[in-house]
Amino acid sequence: MGTAVRNVIRYKGLKIAVFENVYEPAEDTYLLAENIPREPTRLLEIGTGTGIVALTAARLGHDVTATDVNPAATACARWNARINRTPIDVREGDLFEPVRGETYDVVLFNPPYLPPSELPEDDPIHAATEDPTVIRRFLRGLIDGEVEWKKAYLVVSTLTPDEHLRPLRHLHHRTVATRRLFFEELKLLEITRGKNP
Ligand SMILES: C[S@@+](CC[C@H](N)C(=O)[O-])C[C@H]1O[C@@H](n2cnc3c(N)ncnc32)[C@H](O)[C@@H]1O
Repeated sequence: MGTAVRNVIRYKGLKIAVFENVYEPAEDTYLLAENIPREPTRLLEIGTGTGIVALTAARLGHDVTATDVNPAATACARWNARINRTPIDVREGDLFEPVRGETYDVVLFNPPYLPPSELPEDDPIHAATEDPTVIRRFLRGLIDGEVEWKKAYLVVSTLTPDEHLRPLRHLHHRTVATRRLFFEELKLLEITRGKNP
């Protein structure tokens, strides 16, 4: 393997290598991983990073496609799928672009939800954590039906700027899990078609 492994973590029987320039699983990751729907479905994870959430879903019996815009992440997720002998379909590209027109029951996304800091824009950790414009584009993609979907689960933070959550006005959504951290609260939103009353 020509890629440096920064860390190896263990989660629910999975051994997860974290490649250089790939988001290391954190509280937001586990908030999503612990709330994956239990009934097996056709499931899409956008922004898979190491693949830890996608692989957890596959182990629960979901038929999983996982995407990421970062080539280091797709390489890492493919590697982790192989070493854990857990097949998932990993594709590289921006948001729904690699899966456009396909049909999924469940869509998961732990996006870059923090406002930009001083990290340079070409820093992959900036792209993994600090570009909430991606959330707005993700929500628009759901509204516009870039894939067929029934339920979506999106991680957001009290630090996520409200302007990027505005398309939620056009979708039914509720908070299904939360996690309080030092400076922020993470929320897991369950999103369906329709509007909140
Ligand atoms: C906060 S990390 C989450 C990684 C992993 N799902 C987890 O929970 O540990 C956000 C991920 O989204 C990816 N990402 C950012 N913008 C994206 C985009 N436009 N399309 C697809 N993936 C994107 C990043 O490369 C990164 O891997």
